[in-house]
Amino acid sequence: MVIYRSATFDDVEKLHKLLNDYAAEGLMLPRSRNSIYENLRDYVVAVENNHVIGCGALHFVWDRLAEIRSLAVDPERKTQGIGRKMVELLEAEGIERGVKMFFTLTYQPGFFAKCDYIETAKEKLPQKVWKECVYCPQYPYCNELAFVKTTVDYEPGDIMF
Ligand SMILES: CC(C)(COP(=O)(O)OP(=O)(O)OC[C@H]1O[C@@H](n2cnc3c(N)ncnc32)[C@H](O)[C@@H]1OP(=O)(O)O)[C@@H](O)C(=O)NCCC(=O)NCCS
Repeated sequence: MVIYRSATFDDVEKLHKLLNDYAAEGLMLPRSRNSIYENLRDYVVAVENNHVIGCGALHFVWDRLAEIRSLAVDPERKTQGIGRKMVELLEAEGIERGVKMFFTLTYQPGFFAKCDYIETAKEKLPQKVWKECVYCPQYPYCNELAFVKTTVDYEPGDIMF
């Protein structure tokens, strides 16, 4: 049975490997141990038989704005609903804390479309969103796509940055 819970210090090495193996394939941003430790409270993990098989993070960026990021599922456990479940849990936590708009920057448009995210022009996201891009090996030649999901009473343009 897969259990979903907040990440703990004991999970950091597995998170580091999971994220950076995919980063080595150019699928996502690499994350240093420092970054994972500093943002550990952002992460949820999917665990089966005491093994971390997935992770994802909710990162607050600005007023009622949060990023879904560092989402990764063990290669052998993909397409079994684990990624979507983690997105749902991160969104539920965000909504409880007042988030009105979620966004993500991704090379996986099909997955986020399935999670009811809508593609938007990157320029429509606030400049603050790009803060971490300078750490990316692909900067400034990035082909990531921007996707957003808003709560019912919000449109992307409603949030002032
Ligand atoms: C992207 C990722 C997190 C998706 O996790 P997952 O557990 O495999 O996805 P799920 O099983 O929850 O998929 C939910 C739905 O999206 C679909 N889907 C999953 N990955 C997809 C993809 N790459 N393209 C299109 N659709 C996809 C599934 O088929 C499923 O559709 P369904 O509802 O019709 O059955 C996982 O493939 C992964 O770790 N990829 C490598 C790292 C990465 O690119 N992360 C994203 C960084 S933002």
